Amino acid sequence: MIATENLSKRAAIIGGGVIGGGWAARFLLSGWDVCVFDPHPDAEATLAAILANARSSAPALADAVLPKEGALTFATTIGAAVENAAWVQESVPEELAIKHKVIAEIQSAVPVSAVIGSSTSGFKPSELQQDAARPEQIMVTHPFNPVYLLPLIEVVASPETDKALVQVAAELLVSIGMKPLMVRKEIDAHIADRFLESVWREALWLVKDGIATTEEIDDSILYGFGLRWAQMGLFETYRLAGGEEGMAHFIRQFGPALQWPWSRLTDVPELDEELVNKIAEQSDAQSGQHSIQELTRIRDRNLVGILRSLKERDWGAGAVLNEYDKTLATAVCDDVAASDAAPLRLWNGHVLPAWIDYNGHMTEFRYAHVFSDTCEALLKVIDMHAEYGKLGFSYYTAETHAQFFDEAAVNESIYATVQIIFADTKRLHVFYRMHAAADERMLASLEVMYLHVDMKSGRVVAADDDAARKLMVIAAAHADLEKPETAGRFVGQR
Ligand SMILES: NC(=O)c1ccc[n+]([C@@H]2O[C@H](COP(=O)([O-])OP(=O)(O)OC[C@H]3O[C@@H](n4cnc5c(N)ncnc54)[C@H](O)[C@@H]3O)[C@@H](O)[C@H]2O)c1
Repeated sequence: MIATENLSKRAAIIGGGVIGGGWAARFLLSGWDVCVFDPHPDAEATLAAILANARSSAPALADAVLPKEGALTFATTIGAAVENAAWVQESVPEELAIKHKVIAEIQSAVPVSAVIGSSTSGFKPSELQQDAARPEQIMVTHPFNPVYLLPLIEVVASPETDKALVQVAAELLVSIGMKPLMVRKEIDAHIADRFLESVWREALWLVKDGIATTEEIDDSILYGFGLRWAQMGLFETYRLAGGEEGMAHFIRQFGPALQWPWSRLTDVPELDEELVNKIAEQSDAQSGQHSIQELTRIRDRNLVGILRSLKERDWGAGAVLNEYDKTLATAVCDDVAASDAAPLRLWNGHVLPAWIDYNGHMTEFRYAHVFSDTCEALLKVIDMHAEYGKLGFSYYTAETHAQFFDEAAVNESIYATVQIIFADTKRLHVFYRMHAAADERMLASLEVMYLHVDMKSGRVVAADDDAARKLMVIAAAHADLEKPETAGRFVGQR
């Protein structure tokens, strides 16, 4: 068994089109070095465009500092691309003969410990393994476009694939923020594409029979069940449709319709020129006013919005992102020398892409967010944080005064300090400062009076001396510090 944390973070991407480019972006933004092989003369430009889209969307999903972006290189042979790689992702066109040729070249140079994943939408791993030098190294790792935003990845092994390597692959995919769906048994087109194809086939009939246009079909998804599917899938949604009487009631009610049948799923319309042209014309009328690049950006922003809102609810794909955030560096720092006669530096981080407003600067509530995190860190330092809350006590904010001095730009390195102006067992009067790390520029300050509260009665009470011991050590150390010039100001004071 290979320990995933000991693997080099080097990925080789063979085929850098829509999907290979998306893979490259996901690995790079997760801190992996990526080497791409694609013989197309425009391969570098294609990848640059995909990477630009990924950089402008994926980082907005993180609420923690992402790893430093990995290095991107291009190789002129498959052999050069895959040497030293821990992960090789094959994303060449969907033709078995091309995939076989490429896999043979990969296996002639790649370390035997590496994962060889194929993005294939339809082929089974046993088909990819035919005549391979080491079939045990090959599996399907089927992503969804855009790979840099969507977490789902179908992992399909054949009986010949090394089970331990499949486990390594699953762990690596989790470490780059993905959600592996381990497909139990290989079948053509795995799970999701089987499902999508059946929906697509039905849509083709609706267009061919003149029942609905491409736009009407999309409306039926995006204003209705698409929103349900995005967060509860098919069966959980139907469970709710059954109401209190549940899933069995739902199936008894609607199941017989499958026999009529309502749909044409058993039959496939011929994709003749007439149907192809009809669809293309309707689609042009629906979306032709946007370039593909515009639509891609619109899609990415929409996905970020939906994924972020699922994140706030720690639900579905949002929960996957929250788990990934936990693996990223945290800005809060609570191991400081409490007896130093200097403001405590308790927060070191960056202005995250998700914190930027329409001006391109850190938006106002994120200043409050940083100070709030700094307060959490202070409570940890004085041992009055979560455990203390369980005893029924906490500090409540009674009064604040914020001042904003300068703007902070995206990715700028910033830090926050706290100075205790005064503390007794009931009151805690503090002064936070936020600085730019590069030039010490003062960005903002926040003066706060907290009161020590018994949460059951909701009343201000004195903390007992033992609980407040660490706080008093810091308060004593800060007692001789110069009072901040702007402490005690009121709004509008000159
Ligand atoms: N497009 C999707 O939505 C999607 C989703 C999931 C999986 N897939 C799968 O991903 C794979 C790639 O699909 P795509 O949509 O990115 O196709 P694409 O046409 O955009 O990209 C394929 C790339 O492979 C390159 N290529 C061709 N021959 C090559 C070779 N011998 N060595 C290296 N590169 C070579 C091409 O120059 C091209 O850039 C397919 O197996 C497809 O089934 C596609």
